[in-house]
Amino acid sequence: MSSISYLNGTFMPASEARISPLDRGFIFGDGIYEAIPAYSGKLFRLDEHLQRLADNLAAVRIKQPLTTDEWKQVLNEMISRNQATHGSEQSIYLQVTRGVAERDHGFPDSNVEPTLFIMSAPLKSLPESIATEGVAAITHEDIRWKNCHIKSTSLLGNILLRQQAYDDGAVEAILIRDGEITEGAASNLFALIDGILITPPKGPLLLPGITRDLILELAQQHKIASCEAFITPTQLKGAEEIWLTSSTKEILPVTTLDGIAVGNGKPGKAWKQMSQHYQHYKQQLRDA
Ligand code: PDD
Repeated sequence: MSSISYLNGTFMPASEARISPLDRGFIFGDGIYEAIPAYSGKLFRLDEHLQRLADNLAAVRIKQPLTTDEWKQVLNEMISRNQATHGSEQSIYLQVTRGVAERDHGFPDSNVEPTLFIMSAPLKSLPESIATEGVAAITHEDIRWKNCHIKSTSLLGNILLRQQAYDDGAVEAILIRDGEITEGAASNLFALIDGILITPPKGPLLLPGITRDLILELAQQHKIASCEAFITPTQLKGAEEIWLTSSTKEILPVTTLDGIAVGNGKPGKAWKQMSQHYQHYKQQLRDA
């Protein structure tokens, strides 16, 4: 049985989904996307993901294809239709593009409807080695555009940066713009510096991550000292701990930065503590 996807109002086997090559998502990367995990069939922080999607569509003036209730209904149906093949822990990917039109950089006529595509994949559990060894990261100049708060499908900069990390034997590139750390190629960044958990403030230079917000919430709830502040590469080098956060990989402890050990080179105490809070939060959603 094949994976089921959703294209413009119809559920169908993913292998049968077809779009026009004139779709502006294909031609220009003119689209917005979201990646949402589901645990025990329940979508994680769904309202927050839908709010970010709505903000992003409005920011680039792509028509909102569904109402909030319709989004919820379709996304939940995607999970149930894929349950038999993928199980109840899934990763849902959705994208909305500006639709099919003759190639022109300017927007097409207002009667052009957006293209909506949704797919599901089984949510991979993270390897054991993450908790025992952590991961390696490199630093790199942030070569992306200046609207990184928009979750655009135009990801060439991010792709090249992530591949550079892989080429260097690391899992992520931590980005530096004008002497400040912004985020990872596909993750947000936290650093424990002098006992305080710090993440760069929201703004046009980084994605307002859903996981990032949750970690700040959990820090506050559990009285873990935290703040949003700029971090310089020198501060990052001296950090006790570095974490990378995202919906699909949760919280990755970085134990090697540019080939040099972070702290004692093992996942730190603060990471272990926050991971437990995070797992507990997920479990509450499963049990709800
Ligand atoms: N990426 N920053 C960037 C540039 C990202 O691409 C992502 C997520 C994040 C973390 O955001 P969130 O916590 O909302 O997942 C930060 C997703 C997972 C992706 O591109 O597949």
